[in-house]
Amino acid sequence: MTDWLDDPDALEEQYADASNLNARIALHEGYSTADREFHPWIFDQFELPDDARVLTLGCGPGKLWETNAERVPDGWTVAVTDFSRGMVTEARTTLADHADAFAFGVADAQLIPFADERFDAVTANHMLYHVPDREAALREIRRVLVPGGRLYATTIGDRHMQERIDVEERVTDEVLVSGGTHFSLENGGEQLRAVFDDVAVHPYDDALRVTDVEPLVAYALSRNEFDDSMAPELHAAFEREFEDGVFHVEKDVGMFVARKRS
Ligand SMILES: C[S@@+](CC[C@H](N)C(=O)[O-])C[C@H]1O[C@@H](n2cnc3c(N)ncnc32)[C@H](O)[C@@H]1O
Repeated sequence: MTDWLDDPDALEEQYADASNLNARIALHEGYSTADREFHPWIFDQFELPDDARVLTLGCGPGKLWETNAERVPDGWTVAVTDFSRGMVTEARTTLADHADAFAFGVADAQLIPFADERFDAVTANHMLYHVPDREAALREIRRVLVPGGRLYATTIGDRHMQERIDVEERVTDEVLVSGGTHFSLENGGEQLRAVFDDVAVHPYDDALRVTDVEPLVAYALSRNEFDDSMAPELHAAFEREFEDGVFHVEKDVGMFVARKRS
């Protein structure tokens, strides 16, 4: 069983480029039942002035900004960062058509390379659970926010995609640690309240109605616990779970909004 927090090399390898993450994003994008897609929904939650300065930590391949590029007001400046150089390169390529609106750089959330009170908002989507010293990261985020500034941090809950995990556990015969354990919808609020003044949680209503086995296999293979030789076994195990051509997976996702008091 891999807990990436105990294995920094595994974490680095997992996010050396976007190939693993893209396999997981493909499952969500292909089979979501949500009324509103996830990245537009994230943008809907922002309450920001027309001249906002925004910092994105752990940007991955830059999906948030690719999806919402046309909605970014002319007056915004957005710093798009990740601790993986490979991810920053992918985000820069993804956003090449919108180069004026974005700046790019490598940044570890635990030691943010920006001056105090520089940003109106920080986004940290599905990434705080990977940060070993989360308290340091949250203090750094607070430091770079202006008074009244907000952290927008999406994460998952303990029940997220349990039906998928149950199948994978039968194949590996191991307990698989959920990626979100260290900063989840259940325990993230307490961690945030230790550093921020006001903390709210916005649930995102979604599930997966999967009609094809292959994206489930690709999702499993994107994780460190599986290698390509296990594909046939994974395929058979998932196939057994389909009823009338559908495998239903519950999701447990939401966003914390944490405010630094003025
Ligand atoms: C699950 S991905 C999420 C990517 C993107 N935010 C999204 O929602 O699609 C986690 C990202 O966090 C990055 N990451 C992990 N630890 C980090 C750290 N200490 N500082 C900055 N980024 C980190 C990884 O490189 C990876 O791109």
